[in-house]
Parts: sequence; C-alpha cells; structure tokens
Amino acid sequence: MMNTKLLKDTTEDIAAAADILAAGGLVAFPTETVYGLGANALDAEAVGKVYAAKGRPSDNPMIVHISSKDDLLALTPEVTADMQLLMEHFWPGPMTMIVPRLSLIPDTTTGGLDTVGVRMPDHPVALSLISAAQCPVAAPSANLSGKPSPTTAKDVKEDLYGRVDAIIESTDCQVGIESTVIDMMGEQPMILRPGIITREDFEEALKKPVALDPTLNQRPDVFNNEDFKPRAPGMKYKHYAPKAQMTVFEGSPQAVQEVICREAAKYRAEGKKVCVISFDEKDQKAAAHQFFARLREADREGADMILASALPEEGIGFSVMNRMLKSAGYNIRKV
Ligand code: TXA
Ligand code: MG
Repeated sequence: MMNTKLLKDTTEDIAAAADILAAGGLVAFPTETVYGLGANALDAEAVGKVYAAKGRPSDNPMIVHISSKDDLLALTPEVTADMQLLMEHFWPGPMTMIVPRLSLIPDTTTGGLDTVGVRMPDHPVALSLISAAQCPVAAPSANLSGKPSPTTAKDVKEDLYGRVDAIIESTDCQVGIESTVIDMMGEQPMILRPGIITREDFEEALKKPVALDPTLNQRPDVFNNEDFKPRAPGMKYKHYAPKAQMTVFEGSPQAVQEVICREAAKYRAEGKKVCVISFDEKDQKAAAHQFFARLREADREGADMILASALPEEGIGFSVMNRMLKSAGYNIRKV
C-alpha cells in the first residue's frame, strides 16, 4: 500500500499534482466526463504503473489528454480538415479522436497500436493540471478495472486510495459517462464508443455521414460470436460491473414498471436487498449524469439485485444503454 496524498482543487495543490506527474507519478483528477487516473503519456514506465494500479489489461490503450488544441500536432503527423472541424466544434469537451500516432508516444500508452486516442477535456482543473505538468497526460477512468466508472471523488478514493500517488478531490463530474471515441483513420469516421456527443452531432459538424461500430450494443448471441471484434480494444472486456446481480428489463414503459415492481417484491420477500434503477426517458443527459453514481450507490447499500429499466436507444439513450448492457453482463429480459 502506498501513501496517497489527498489534494484539493486549489492552484497550489494542482501545482503539486503537476509536479508528481512530471516526476513520473500517478494522479487521479476530475474531468467533465468521469475522473481520470493520469500519468505522463510520454513516460512508458509511468504509464506502466497506471495499468498496475487499475489492474488493467495491457493491450487496452489509454486516451492521451492535452490542454490546448495546438498540442494535437505534437502527437500526430497531420491535422486533416475533418479533425480540424471536430476540434473546433467539440474541444474542449467529451470527444476522443483516434488518429495516427507519432513514434514519440510509447507503445505502452497505445497498447502497441499505431494510432492514439486524443482528448482535450472541458474541465478547469484537468486543463490547469495538464498545462502545469507540461506533458500530455495518459488517463483511463480512475476506477479499478471492471468496476463502474468514478464520477465522484469518493468513488476514486474507494478504488484507488493506497494505489496511486495523489487524488485531487473536486466536485462531481457533470457528464457522467466517458467521452465519445471517434476513429478518424478511415475515409468515413466511425464511433467506437458512444457518449453524449452523438452521431447526429458529428454528422452536423462534418456535413457527411459518420458510421457506428456495428458491434455496439449488440446482444449476447452476437457478443459470443467469433466475428465479434470491437475496434476499441477496451470494449471487449468485462466492464462497469456492480457487485449486485443486475437485470435490464426491455419493453413498453408500463409493462417494464409492472414487472420490476413484481420482481422487486418477490426478491424482497426472500430477504434480498433490491435496488431499482430507472430514468426519465425525456432527460437523457440526466440519465447519463446519474448512471454510474446509481451503480456505486447500490454497491454501497449492499444491494443483492439491481433491476433496471432500459432506455430507448436513440441519441444519448444509446450511449447510456451501452453502459447499462455491459454492467448487467447483457442479462436482459424482454417483457
Ligand atoms: O471520458 C473519458 O474518455 C475518460 C476521461 C478520464 O477522459 N477516459 C476514459 O478512458 O474513459 P478509458 O481508458 O477508461 O477508456 C478508453 C477507451 C477504451 O475503450 C480504449 O480501448 C479506447 O478508448 N481507445 C483508446 N485508444 C485507442 C486507440 N488508439 N484505438 C482504439 N481505441 C482506443
Ligand atoms: Mg474505463
């Protein structure tokens, strides 16, 4: 167990955190999406420690965070017209672009791929930290591998206290789900991980069609198929899993509500602790903001079962469902 410094989001503490990053240490910090666990992206040894602290498979590449749009050119050989448009529309913000990488980025950071994911977060603490550290910052979500992503400082402490050099304790993350990952390597850009910036948003900015990785949100029959090869390596691992057994109910809102009520009563009669998760279908941003926090709450309450109602898979609802299906291990009941 290592000594973890608990820092505030003050100028002084951010400077101390930046020194830790520059010296090859690990710092957990807030972003607008989820908390990240940062290391100097150009220091293979530092990045190696991130995999160890999270218990993360080493073929799962990290997103490299920058504090100014100009810094993209230090990581990739050329900024194309499409990349330029997306940067102008969505940075700083919850968008990660997959682009060709320059060789100064170590293999450890990219999981050996010849591409790199780059993002400029929209959070004052993250931006000051990266700019003060004077290096690009590799940062996966600041959770233990397999657990729900952390959207509060408390979540981060639960997972990483004693495993990292410092944690910056700041306010809760506003977006609540991770950035949209968009692959810019092909003729047609492709979304590899959905987020609150949607396919429609990208198409409007680029004035051309954008593809969705066809494996996204596929149900188990497809998931277990040999041809299931998601293009973002991280998408294939067990993810976001609460301790409780989780079931997602799909169907008309009324039928789902009835079945959940009935099932909850049945389990409670058996002495089980049941947690019900459902969202207002009309406020998808609120659903994204709350989803991981609700899973973590269920764990803290010692829930045995989580019964969740599916959202319509459109717009941000598609992105929240992407997380929900994984958390439930694709345990779905159609009603
Ligand atoms: O919002 C976010 O993106 C957060 C905050 C901290 O910025 N970070 C985050 O990182 O979610 P992580 O490591 O938990 O997820 C990164 C995802 C993984 O699915 C990974 O496989 C994919 O992005 N990825 C990263 N680099 C890639 C690359 N070069 N090619 C394809 N997929 C990549
Ligand atoms: Mg993650």
